[in-house]
Parts: sequence; C-alpha cells; structure tokens
Amino acid sequence: MDIRLEEPRDWRAAEELTREAFWNVYRPGCTEHYVLHRYRSDPAFIPGLDFVMEDRDGRLAGHVMFSRAELLLGDGSKFPMWTFGPIGIRPDLKRRGLGLRLLLHALDAARTLGVGALCMEGNIAFYRHAGFGLASRIGLHYHSAPPGAEVPYFLARELRPGYLAGIEGTYHPPRGYFVAEEDPAGFAAFDATFPAKTKAFRPGQLPQFCRRCGAPLRADADCGLQPGGGIDYSLCRGCSATVPVSRESPPQQQA
Ligand SMILES: CC(C)(COP(=O)(O)OP(=O)(O)OC[C@H]1O[C@@H](n2cnc3c(N)ncnc32)[C@H](O)[C@@H]1OP(=O)(O)O)[C@@H](O)C(=O)NCCC(=O)NCCS
Repeated sequence: MDIRLEEPRDWRAAEELTREAFWNVYRPGCTEHYVLHRYRSDPAFIPGLDFVMEDRDGRLAGHVMFSRAELLLGDGSKFPMWTFGPIGIRPDLKRRGLGLRLLLHALDAARTLGVGALCMEGNIAFYRHAGFGLASRIGLHYHSAPPGAEVPYFLARELRPGYLAGIEGTYHPPRGYFVAEEDPAGFAAFDATFPAKTKAFRPGQLPQFCRRCGAPLRADADCGLQPGGGIDYSLCRGCSATVPVSRESPPQQQA
C-alpha cells in the first residue's frame, strides 16, 4: 500500500470510498462524503495533510483529511488547534491495520508541518493506538457538555510536547463538519449522484433525532415519508405529515 497526497484526479474516488466506509455506521446512510467534498474549498482545509492510501492496482484503499480548528479560552480569545477526519478505509480492507498505518503517517506529516495538537470525536478503541486520550483529562472541554465533564468520544493528543501546557479551553468542531445539516438540499443533490444504497438503522449508531421537532428516531417506522414514497431519515413521521420542511438552523451535534 502506498500513501500519498490526494490529487484532483482522486477526488471522486475518495468521496466514493468515504461513502462506502461510513454508510450506516453512525446513522442511516452517511454525510461524510459531502463533508469531504465541500471541505476542499474551505480555508480551514489543509491540502498538505490530505492523504490517500492506494493498493497495488491503483485503487484507493483509504483516505484522511485534516482541518484547522480552534479552542475558545476563558478570556474569550482563541487558541490555534487542529482536527482531522473523515478517515475511512475501504470496507473490504477494514481491520487489517491499514487505518492505523494511514493515521500514523498523517500524524507524522502533521508534526512536520508544525501542528501543535489535535482534538476530535471518535472511538478511543481505535484512536488510543495513535496516542489519543480523553481530552477532558488535559483540561479541554467539549462545546455541548458542562466544563470538566468526561466525554468518552472527545479525544485529543499533543504533537508538539508542551503545546497545550497551561491551556484550558472549549472545542467547537469547525463549521465545515456541518455542511450537510446546513444545506440538506445540496447534500441530497450531491448524494443522488452516487449509486443508490439502502439506509438502515444499525446497532451502535449515534442517537438520531428529528431535524425539526427533536423527536427520537430509532427505526424506519419513526421516520418521515418523502413525497416519492421513500423514508426521510432526518424527519419524524408526525412532522413530515403536517409541516413543510424548513432549512433554517443546523441541529445540535449528536455525537
Ligand atoms: C475506523 C477505521 C478508519 C479504522 O481503520 P481499520 O483499518 O479498520 O483499523 P485498524 O485495523 O488499523 O485498527 C487498529 C486497531 O484499532 C482497533 N479498531 C479499529 N476500528 C475499531 C472499531 N471500530 N472499534 C474498536 N476497535 C477498533 C483494531 O481492533 C486494532 O486494534 P488491535 O490491533 O488491538 O486489534 C475504519 O474501520 C473505517 O473506515 N471505519 C468506518 C469509518 C469510521 O468510523 N471512521 C472513523 C470516524 S471517527
């Protein structure tokens, strides 16, 4: 497997891979391929930390991207931080050590580029292998939790030793991660350019809530019906039957 910087010729294949890797993992369907698609033109995107992994036949096996972020400090100032993701491995190649190899490669490159520390939301069972720990243990707070609360999926690590010494701040994921919620129509149009796939509720997904009224969504029976007859996994049955869809503010992050 070869790891190299992503090039424009890889863009579509990386989005396809990301969609396959994330499909039904955290929610019915996924939005990470749209996040990746939109991030490439976001000033927070870091082209020098946008990697693909390629197999011997030239097919993509994995992808990871990084973004600039920030911590909000108690005095209202901002402190430079970084984050990464989506990171995805082609489904037929998962759990063979490739994700960790890709991530460690990218972290080495990030250190070389001067990245001081990283915060992200993820599964500690994977990220501990790359040196990540609970962010709350080093004085970092998660935006939607009370200061000091231990948030099991809010992870961090320093790349430059001492970068976070004496720093206590709150992490808000950058806006680039919410493009699908902010622009559901744009996301739906983009997703429709990929092959049809079946959305489904699966054990281990994040809790899902109706985008408009906040009702919990746990099964197809809870969800809204689209005019064409398909299920709308972002709306509840009650809302979609009575009120037209509005697209004002993005929902609270559910991770
Ligand atoms: C998460 C992902 C990138 C990991 O890559 P991978 O190649 O499958 O994982 P690796 O084989 O490199 O795993 C390295 C270690 O982490 C563990 N690990 C990997 N994924 C894990 C998971 N989902 N849950 C628990 N442990 C996991 C492995 O068991 C392995 O530990 P071990 O050596 O002690 O067995 C990949 O599975 C993927 O694309 N998943 C779907 C998308 C996703 O969830 N991305 C991350 C978003 S935060």
